[in-house]
Amino acid sequence: MEPLFTILGRGRAGRALAEAWGGRVALAPHEADPGGLVLLAVPDHAIPCQAARFQGRCVHLSGSLHLQDVPSAHPLTSFRGRAEDWGGTPLALTGSVPEPIREAFVAVGFLPFELPVDQKALYHACAVLTSGHAASLWLGAARLLAEAGLELPGRGLLPLAEATLANVAREGARGRTGPFVRGDEATIQRDAEALPEAWRRVFLELGRLG
Ligand SMILES: NC(=O)c1ccc[n+]([C@@H]2O[C@H](COP(=O)([O-])OP(=O)(O)OC[C@H]3O[C@@H](n4cnc5c(N)ncnc54)[C@H](OP(=O)(O)O)[C@@H]3O)[C@@H](O)[C@H]2O)c1
Repeated sequence: MEPLFTILGRGRAGRALAEAWGGRVALAPHEADPGGLVLLAVPDHAIPCQAARFQGRCVHLSGSLHLQDVPSAHPLTSFRGRAEDWGGTPLALTGSVPEPIREAFVAVGFLPFELPVDQKALYHACAVLTSGHAASLWLGAARLLAEAGLELPGRGLLPLAEATLANVAREGARGRTGPFVRGDEATIQRDAEALPEAWRRVFLELGRLG
């Protein structure tokens, strides 16, 4: 049976989606030259060159980049190369995404919405803040503790991060806790002084943004 379309690029996104879609969709390396519809799952910097090869019959996965006449479908998730439960995960569509590709995303739980071109960069910056930057904060804090020789028992910082996210999901801004919310200035200053300079600035600036 002919595949519905071909995913080009066997990275984290390409492999995860190919596994979820099973045999209905083909997965190929980026040097391949498939016919029919192509879903470009290559790094953002490689998209312009690849899109030129499949003009008028490709869709890319970048949430930030916009190319004239090349539609995009950005899954608002963090892939790890395996199929997962994507129920309720937004899928940002820009331009005319062909029905077979749109339907394939919907079939595995994604919720499509139209993302205007002029809001792509803001949308993607907010995605980075929530994902990569949140991970950097969490991993950085764990590293500071380890460097100081302070070993937390059990699951370490993870229960705190999980409880915070669950509270915010339930209650919005009211779910946020900590010295900045309580206005505990002496605690804020004491904590800030315990941090290396770069982290101190992040600590104070992020705290005041909330
Ligand atoms: N990762 C995520 O969580 C995520 C989430 C939403 C959207 N996206 C988007 O999905 C796209 C792919 O991201 P990814 O995380 O899957 O990337 P990735 O893991 O870095 O993999 C991209 C794949 O592209 C191919 N490739 C590598 N260098 C290339 C080059 N110079 N030119 C052309 N192809 C090259 C390779 O596949 P082959 O070895 O098979 O050729 C590589 O495995 C990006 O546009 C990204 O913005 C990613």
